[in-house]
Amino acid sequence: MRILMIGDIFGRPGRKAVRENLSSIKQELKLDMIIANGENASGGNGITPATANELFDYGIDVLTMGNHVWDKKEILGHIQKEPRIIRPANYPPGTPGRGYGIFNINGVNVGVINLSGLVYLLNLDCPFRTVEQILNEINDLTNIIIVDFHAEATSEKIALGWYLDGKVTAVAGTHTHVQTADERILPGGTAYITDLGMTGPLNSIIGVKIDIALKKFITQMPVRFESADGPFQFNAVVIEVDEDTGSAVSINRVFNIEY
Ligand code: FE2
Repeated sequence: MRILMIGDIFGRPGRKAVRENLSSIKQELKLDMIIANGENASGGNGITPATANELFDYGIDVLTMGNHVWDKKEILGHIQKEPRIIRPANYPPGTPGRGYGIFNINGVNVGVINLSGLVYLLNLDCPFRTVEQILNEINDLTNIIIVDFHAEATSEKIALGWYLDGKVTAVAGTHTHVQTADERILPGGTAYITDLGMTGPLNSIIGVKIDIALKKFITQMPVRFESADGPFQFNAVVIEVDEDTGSAVSINRVFNIEY
């Protein structure tokens, strides 16, 4: 089985990148499943039900989220009835939505877990203990388990990679919008990358219009972030999975640029 994990889809340019790239990549790389981080898909923060459905129509099977999950209030009711949208599992008990899901892909169960980091991010439950608990619940249902760790600190992401090595199929980081070149298979058979990168505007400051983000850095005054436009980048990894063992066979980066 071949699974594509797409880095944070940012605003309209990110959606355009998915619309224009995904069907050809799907054919070319013979993909069976597509997982994408969608927490910035609507205007650069949050996701609306309409945007989520647009992305599902392009062929995405599961959308994971992160710290921007509640930025568009329309998602609050929708996330309860849409199992294909997953928010970090380590939000406090009682938070709407689900932190993981089991998806049937051509007759094979695939578990997808979303977690948020704590370092420089949110004050949530411990992602290590949370994922341990989820694994205890789903280990009987599938041995193919994909983790999106939405986190800022590289150290925390690498730590979770080692913690889950041999226990899950893949640990991929999201949130920084900058793709890292450290993809590898860890000794226990888990595919790992610190960050998938961003699928969004190429000429931007992690997705935001350059002049607006610069003004913020230079003046420290409040600004209203807007998604940049122009050419896009499409960032992802493709993971080949041994369906018998649930181990990853390979992980390869995708970094497509529209000129
Ligand atoms: Fe984020």
